[in-house]
Amino acid sequence: MDYSEHVVTPDPQVVAGLDHWRTLPVKQQPQWPDASAAAAVVSELATVPPLVFAGEVDMLRDRLARAARGEAFLLQGGDCAETFAGATADKIRNRVKTILQMAVVLTYGASLPIVKMGRMAGQFAKPRSNDDETRDGVTLPAYRGDIVNGYDFNEESRTPDPARMLQGYHTAASTLNLIRAFTQGGFADLRMVHSWNKGFAENPANARYEGLAREIDRAVKFMEAAGADFDELKRVEFYASHEGLLMEYERALTRIDSRTGLPYVTSGHFLWIGERTRELDGAHVDFFSRVRNPIGVKLGPSSTPDTLKKLSDQLDPGREPGRLTFITRMGAGEIREKLPPLLTASQELGITPLWVSDPMHGNGMTTQTGYKTRRFDDVVDEVKGFFEAHREVGTHPGGIHVELTGDDVTECLGGSQNIDELGLETRYESLCDPRLNHQQSLELAFLVAEELSHR
Ligand code: PEP
Ligand code: CO
Repeated sequence: MDYSEHVVTPDPQVVAGLDHWRTLPVKQQPQWPDASAAAAVVSELATVPPLVFAGEVDMLRDRLARAARGEAFLLQGGDCAETFAGATADKIRNRVKTILQMAVVLTYGASLPIVKMGRMAGQFAKPRSNDDETRDGVTLPAYRGDIVNGYDFNEESRTPDPARMLQGYHTAASTLNLIRAFTQGGFADLRMVHSWNKGFAENPANARYEGLAREIDRAVKFMEAAGADFDELKRVEFYASHEGLLMEYERALTRIDSRTGLPYVTSGHFLWIGERTRELDGAHVDFFSRVRNPIGVKLGPSSTPDTLKKLSDQLDPGREPGRLTFITRMGAGEIREKLPPLLTASQELGITPLWVSDPMHGNGMTTQTGYKTRRFDDVVDEVKGFFEAHREVGTHPGGIHVELTGDDVTECLGGSQNIDELGLETRYESLCDPRLNHQQSLELAFLVAEELSHR
């Protein structure tokens, strides 16, 4: 469609509102040592092409609305922190394949459309509990993700460097380009269901997947022989998401949609506000309340029905289907107690947000040997608790949000490989939180499929 003849002029007040956050308390931002260098980067970012198109963002909002109604399910996964060095073809392909495999398991097990979304192509900024880190008596700024500073523990690397925002944009662009090539160019075709399993080390979850792939293959061949046209299966919708954290970057990549005159963040399709930056009177909630993208908010165990109401009023006053997603990360021990009152409150308020389980961030622990890890059993238990809570209250469990990689890392304990504390050091690569490896991700997908099949 040609939109060029229908350019809508934006309301000046709407445009001015996009900078209102600057007057509010803003958390988790870097201190750039050279303010003019940062300003130069930000003005360059304000002129670069958008990474996503507003029409795609609208389509995603529609898909999320379906998930909120229980007619679809969201699978959102990827690294805790993407790195620039990690944006290689192999690593991106393995993550996309893992998500596609999980999506097949879920679609087949639950007979529901799965909305596929990567924590990918922009997940470069990290909130930290402390601004600084001290090692052997030396104190330096904490690592805030590759878009801000380097991980190596020396002064040069840890000093925030605004040029990294440009590198973040370009790395996101090339990652998204490859994702689009894979998902639009035939690689994600359901008739390739077997090939996604190739190249991964053999394991019980893979073998189980192979069995399922054979069944799907037979069904597809039967339908094809019966005359069905499967060319539609060649292309798969795949959305990009990241935490909306680094305010200058997100503001600079916000564009006015010429079709509607409304603002969209174009650094990704879906942005979420983290547990540490969701204060009602803070910069993040204000800024993201003013853009059209579907927005997620993490909800930890301190969330109350009042939090839920105020966040809904601020971020979704029009109660628009698909606009607001609550991503709960309570911890396995708390989910069964903390989630039901929130679900009941949403019913009483008459709101239908999309409810998604993040079974990762409430289940962190550190081993005696100093590894940040999570028990696979706790992850599974939180997901089960999530489904139980929804069954109890009568609301829809609408998706899962997981930190995963397609590689055979050893970062989370357990799973059928039984990774133990000593085993963590075999291949621990995450610069931030521990991720499920390929096998653990598939195992989790089978489990969620089972839960979904007896919703
Ligand atoms: C994250 O998703 O990596 C994260 C920091 O989560 P939370 O805001 O829930 O702690
Ligand atoms: Co994380």
